[in-house]
Amino acid sequence: MNAPTDIAKVLASTPDALHGYKTFTLGSFNFRRDEYFVHISWTTRDGRPLSHTMDAGNFLRALMRDVAWGFFYGGVNFDHVFGTTNHYKTVDLYAGTYNVTMKSAGVDLLENFETPQIAATFAQMLDDWTNEAFDPFSAPQETGSPYGRKSGSNTPKLTRARELAKRCVGLKDDLNLRSDARGAPINRAFADVPQDQPELHPEPGFENEVHAFNLFAFLSRSQVTWNPSFTSVVKYSFMCPTTEEHILPIIHANDRVEWFFQMCDEIHWDCADKTTGKPLARVIMKAGDMAAMPAYCRHQGYSPKRSMLLVWENGSPNLVYEIEKGESPEIPVTF
Ligand code: PHB
Ligand code: FE
Repeated sequence: MNAPTDIAKVLASTPDALHGYKTFTLGSFNFRRDEYFVHISWTTRDGRPLSHTMDAGNFLRALMRDVAWGFFYGGVNFDHVFGTTNHYKTVDLYAGTYNVTMKSAGVDLLENFETPQIAATFAQMLDDWTNEAFDPFSAPQETGSPYGRKSGSNTPKLTRARELAKRCVGLKDDLNLRSDARGAPINRAFADVPQDQPELHPEPGFENEVHAFNLFAFLSRSQVTWNPSFTSVVKYSFMCPTTEEHILPIIHANDRVEWFFQMCDEIHWDCADKTTGKPLARVIMKAGDMAAMPAYCRHQGYSPKRSMLLVWENGSPNLVYEIEKGESPEIPVTF
């Protein structure tokens, strides 16, 4: 291995002489990529060296979401071993902590980092390990290969601005509607989606208050997959629709209830206990179906065709602590 050099707070090696990728160190965790794989290594609580291997494409797709979403709500499992938990000022990085077999064998490790430190390390790792041809936000059929030796970079695709409406898409001074001219052509799967916009007839003086837009048309022009954007915000009620194709690259562990509305086509979800990974449910969602994911679950979706999903989040910064204290429920309704 090459000697680590300090780049800001990021510990990175010089590029490997053969395949060209840097090695990164964060706390006791070491991250290395080669032509096909990412290797994560750490020392277990009882002092033994252990490593975990992930497919490079799967790792980069998960890393892309964790970086772009600022560690999201709750837990972002890259797979059944490795991931992060957001505490909103700090972030836990873990291996095996939420894998009941590894946990009971004592080979897990969890370390907590200041958010800027882990964010900087993850952003540099993502940039160094993503080649020119690969866009981790694209559906697999719409991008090149993540594999091979280091070959160029794809920084503009890794640093897309998050699409977050302040009040609602299309309002004055807010997130724009998508269009060909803004670089958002209609996706191949949504060629049949009508593009007309609703008529608006607000009373004079209410032009910036009364509003509507064609959400199906907006989503038909999404260039990315598994990347919820805020289209309307009312207090802490965030409507976060997204287009999905192939597999959600993370297994999301909730720290609050979230709702899903399947707007077209279908997604199959695997749901499990967020702490142990014990399977809880398979949820097959078809167009028009709604489901709520309880705060105690982790979930991963499979979308055979590009589909439209509305994710509804309660973005209250206090909610996670209210749930921890038992003041808010982990489930949305009791029948
Ligand atoms: C989720 O974890 O709930 C989630 C994340 C990204 C998506 C859809 C759902 O695109
Ligand atoms: Fe989720």
